[in-house]
This record gives sequence, C-alpha cells and structure tokens, in this order.
Amino acid sequence: MYIESVLETIGNTPLVRLQNIQGVKAKVLAKVEACNPGLSAKDRIVRYMVAKAEQLGKIKPGATIIEATSGNTGFSLALNCATKGYKCILTVSSKTSKEKIQGLKALGAEVVVCPKDVAPEDPRSYYSQAKSLAKRIPNSYYLNQNFNTDNMEAHYLTTGPEIWYQTGEKITHYVCCAGTGGTISGTGRYLKEQNPDVKVIAVDGEGSVLKKYHETGIYDRSVIRPILIEGLGKTIIPANMDFSVIDEFLRVSDKNAALRVRELAKEEGLFVGYSSGAALQAVYQMADELTEDDVVVILLSDHGSRYLSKIFNDLWMKEQGFMEAGQDVRDDILQRQQAAVSLPGSDYIRYYKRYSRLLRRRYRHLKDNWQQKI
Ligand SMILES: Cc1ncc(COP(=O)(O)O)c(C=O)c1O
Repeated sequence: MYIESVLETIGNTPLVRLQNIQGVKAKVLAKVEACNPGLSAKDRIVRYMVAKAEQLGKIKPGATIIEATSGNTGFSLALNCATKGYKCILTVSSKTSKEKIQGLKALGAEVVVCPKDVAPEDPRSYYSQAKSLAKRIPNSYYLNQNFNTDNMEAHYLTTGPEIWYQTGEKITHYVCCAGTGGTISGTGRYLKEQNPDVKVIAVDGEGSVLKKYHETGIYDRSVIRPILIEGLGKTIIPANMDFSVIDEFLRVSDKNAALRVRELAKEEGLFVGYSSGAALQAVYQMADELTEDDVVVILLSDHGSRYLSKIFNDLWMKEQGFMEAGQDVRDDILQRQQAAVSLPGSDYIRYYKRYSRLLRRRYRHLKDNWQQKI
C-alpha cells in the first residue's frame, strides 16, 4: 500500500475543465502539470533522461549531474539526485526567480547564477557554464535538456497518451508553450499519430527566434530580446523542437501572459506559473477559429508558488507597467458572477461518507487476506 520512491508519483496529472473562460466557444481543458511532485512537467523528462543514461552506463554511482536550467528542470533533477544519491550542479540565468533558486538549494543542489542577457555561445552564458563544468568535473554527466532527445521521448511516452485517453480521443487542438520543445514535440507527435487532424499550436514569447524559424527556416538573431516569461521562447534552435508536428506558433506578450495567469488563480483556483498564462492567452488569440465542437487542451507547465515575487506580487506588476497603481488586475473578475463549478455542499458530504465506507471495506478485505496467508 505504499510506493518505494516519490519518483513513482510522477505523471497521470489531472485534466481540468476551465469554467470561467469568456468568449471562447470551445471546451477548454487544462492539463495541470503542477500536480507532479516537483511541481512541473519537467519531472517527466528528468526521470526518463536519468534512467536512460543509467541504463547506457553514462551515469555511474557517485556521479555529479549538471544541467543548464530556468529552474524547473533543475528542481526535478535535484529531486532525482536526492533520491538516488547523486551530486547535482545547476547553472541558471539571472532572470530565474528567487523562490526557484531557494527551492533548488533546499533539495541539496549547488546553484551557479549566470548573466541573463548574453549570447548562448558567450562563455558566461548558463549553457556554456554547464558545458565547461561537465568537462572539468570527473565522473560528471551533462543532462542537456535542449539537445538530448530523450526529453521529447518522455512526453511521447506519457503526456501524449494521457491527454488522448483523458479527452476520450476527442481532442481537436493542443496548445503548449515552447522552450526546449520537448513537451510540444513529444506530445504533439503522439497526438498527430492518433489523429492527424489534431492542431498542434506552439506558444512563443516576443523576443524568441522560434516562430520566425518555423515560418521561414531563417534563424534571425535580430528578433532576440529579453522575455520575462520563464521557460518560454528560445535564442537557440533546440534539437527537441520537432517543427514538423507543429501547425502554428502564436506569439504572446509578457503583459498578457501575466494578466491571464492571475485570472487562472482568481477565477479557476488554478495556482500555476507564468507560462501557463501564456498558454491561456494563446487560446484567446485563436478564439475566432474555435467552434462549440472543439476540444482544446492547454498544458499548464508549473506551479504558481515559484512566482510569488513576480507575477503574484502587485509591486512587481506595477514596476513592469502591467498594472496601474492602486488597481488590482482585472477587478471586474471579482465582480463577475462566477459559474457554479463544483458539486453542491450536500453532494460533497455524501461523497465523503461513501468514499470513507469504501476505504474501510477495502482495508478490512486486505486485512482478512493477510491473516489468511499468515
Ligand atoms: C515554466 C515552463 N513553461 C514552459 C516550458 C517549456 O517546455 P519545453 O522545454 O518542454 O518546451 C518550460 C521549460 O523550461 C518551463 O520551465
């Protein structure tokens, strides 16, 4: 009746219907990856990438595992290393929030903070720093989530099938933020194999090279500028980005994503991270194309607790110009009549009693079986 390791609780995350979405005719379902033990979708890829490297003998006992990460992959890696006895070193960009860095340290990782606005090839960038540490430290392994395609494989094997079965094979649109590309490419490939008509929509940031590269094949350095949304957008073309399964890239602004993520918390009770607001904003941007028959799945990558000093901090929102002084974001939300989304109180009480009876019956049955064996 117990599991051997917290790693076994990864995946099988819930798909929750958004109830208060306005002006979108389709059914919109959110895949809540914050329900993983490391609070993000990165748990799926790290467990798989570490297991594959162990199987191939690339990670040996006592190894140091190194990664360049915006925080979430680091958190999942630190969690893996803590359960398996490896040392963990993470290089992060200086745009990573304070809470994320503290969380990494809490799990025993060593964190190296690198400047945010430098080219990836620059020796000071968090990519270059990770590579050079891996060269210098004996018995070390560089996980390399951008170019290790086990990343997208993990989503092909888990996230894709989960969404396909959770929607009863009815999904018509998949909307997902693109960073390394692993989540959208692996999940998108699985969904397209089941039904080639499923539209796969990648969400990109203003200041990322991905959208233009998808549309023209041109890597245009001139579009690069800092993006506030963590995990979203790229200044490189990662090997995990399978452009062939992506129908369209939609660009979302830092401001719109920040406002939408606060809506998800206040209107849906979904306390999720910055890029989740970008995914919701993308649905609003494509609203005109959607009909009542469409089933849209948006992937919410991580948990809101990692952004308390940013999007959930009114002062930070005002400093960015996302909120006027003295105004709460979308005050109108609070005044709006919310849809009744849950069971009425009496039904919940009946549910608790039935569930408790079921648990007691199951426990009595197990106990009887043990006694028979003894
Ligand atoms: C919060 C967040 N959202 C979205 C993404 C993008 O996911 P992927 O790297 O699989 O494209 C990441 C990845 O770093 C992330 O941390």
